[in-house]
Amino acid sequence: MHKNIVILGTQWGDEGKGKIVDFLSSNSAYTVRFHGGHNAGHTLVVNGKKIILHLIPSGLLYPNVIGIISNGVVISPFELVKEIKMLEKNNYFISQRLFISESAPLILPYHVAMDLAREKKLGINSIGTTGRGIGPAYEDKIARRALRIGDLKNIKKLSKKLEVIVDYYNNQLVSFYKEQSISYKKILQDLLKVRDIVYNMIQDTATILHKAIEDKKRIIFEGAQGTFLDIDHGTYPYVTSSNSTIGGVITGTGVGPKNLDYILGITKSYTTRVGKGPFPTELFDETGDYLSKKGKEFGSTTGRKRRTGWLDGVALRYAVKINSLSSLCITKLDVLDDLEQIKICTSYKDVNTSQIYKDFSIFNLENISPVYETHPGWMKKTSGIKKIEDLPEEARNYLNRIEEIAQIPIDIISTGPDRSDTILVKSLFF
Ligand code: GDP
Ligand code: IMO
Ligand code: MG
Repeated sequence: MHKNIVILGTQWGDEGKGKIVDFLSSNSAYTVRFHGGHNAGHTLVVNGKKIILHLIPSGLLYPNVIGIISNGVVISPFELVKEIKMLEKNNYFISQRLFISESAPLILPYHVAMDLAREKKLGINSIGTTGRGIGPAYEDKIARRALRIGDLKNIKKLSKKLEVIVDYYNNQLVSFYKEQSISYKKILQDLLKVRDIVYNMIQDTATILHKAIEDKKRIIFEGAQGTFLDIDHGTYPYVTSSNSTIGGVITGTGVGPKNLDYILGITKSYTTRVGKGPFPTELFDETGDYLSKKGKEFGSTTGRKRRTGWLDGVALRYAVKINSLSSLCITKLDVLDDLEQIKICTSYKDVNTSQIYKDFSIFNLENISPVYETHPGWMKKTSGIKKIEDLPEEARNYLNRIEEIAQIPIDIISTGPDRSDTILVKSLFF
C-alpha cells in the first residue's frame, strides 16, 4: 500500500505535475507544496475548465483535501492572497484548509526588483528567470536575513527588520544597478493589508504532517520545477534556486525519508524547457514547431514559448537515480498522436572524439550530440482511451521502450489535459 506519494518533475519543469497531483488527490487527505514559489505554474483542467495554480497545492480543488505550504517554499504573501481570491471566484473555498509554515521565507518587492535588475545586467548571459524574485529570496534565507511569514505575527519586530533589509537592498538597487529604490513604508502598509487574511493559516506545518502520518492519512508531496532545474543536480547556473529533487521534500517539510512511500516521476513524452541553458535534444525544425503547437507549449507563469525536443533517455535515467523514483507517469502522449516517426535519445556522442556517453553528467553537455533511435508512430487518437491494452500497439511499444530505458515501470499515462484523460496502469492505492 502506497500511503504517501511524492510527485517530481524529471525534466525541466512543466511535465504536467499539477494535473497528476489533482488526479491523485481524490484519494488523499493532504497535498503539500514543499519548495519553489510562484515561479511554478501548474495547470488543472476539470470538466473542461482550466485553473492555473502557482503557489497553492493542486489537490485543493477537492473539498476535503487539506493544503500545506511548508517551510521549503518562498512565499509572496500578495500573490498568495491573489490566488486564494481567484479560487474563491471559481467557487473553491480553501482558507479554512490551507496551512502555511511559519518558517517559510517571504518574497517581497525588493526580491523581484533584484531578480529583474540582475537579469538586465547579465544581458545575453541572463538565466531567463521567471522574474518572480525566487533567487534573491532563497539567498536571503541562506544568508540568515530573510523575513519569514511567521514574522507577520509580530508586526513591531517585523517592521524593524524590514527597514534594515530594505535599506540593504536599496543601496544595491540604486548605487550598483541604477534602478529605482523600494519604499519600506509601502511594503509595510501592503503587508498589513494581507496579514489578517493569512494570520490563522500560519502554523507549525511539520507537526501537522507528523500528526497526519500518525493518523495514517495519505499525503501527496507536490514538486515544482524539475530535476534539471535543481540547484544542486541541474544544469547550473541555468537552474532555479531550490532543490526540486527528492531531497527537497525532506528539508522542505520536516518529513523523513521513511515516510515517503512512493516516488512518482512525471515525464512528458517529449521534452520542453523555458528559459536558457543546455538542452541536448532540442529541435529547431518543423517537428519542434509541431510539438510546440500541438502541445500548446507556452509557459503557464510567464507565457513564454517553451523550447521543444525529443525525449532524452540519458537525462531520464539520471532523474530516476537522483530521485530514487519508484515509477513514471508519462504525460502528453496524445501530442505524439499524428507523428509518423518518434525519436528517443539513448546516448550522447562527443562531437570531437566520437566517444559515446550512456550516463548524464552536467559537466559534459558541451560538444555533445544526441544519438537517437527511431520508433514508428501510431497515427491514431489516444485521448479518451481508459485502458493501456486499448492503446495502439506502436504506442505501447514506445512506452515499453521508455520503461526499458528508465528501468522502472510506467504506472500512469496521461492522454489529455483534463483530469479524466488519464490511464491508471496500476492502482497506487490498493
Ligand atoms: P506542471 O508545471 O508540471 O504542472 O505543468 P504545466 O501545467 O505548466 O504544463 C503542462 C501543460 O500540459 C498544461 O497546459 C496542462 O493542461 C497540459 N497537459 C497535462 N497533461 C496533458 C496531456 O496528457 N495531454 C495534453 N495534451 N496536455 C496535457
Ligand atoms: P513548474 O513547477 C518551467 C525556470 C525559469 C528559468 C529558471 C530559473 O511549472 O514546472 P527562477 O524564476 O526559478 O529563478 O527561474 O527556472 N523555471 C521553470 N521552468 N517550469 C517551472 O515550474 C519553472 N520554474 C522556474 O524559466 O529558466
Ligand atoms: Mg508549469
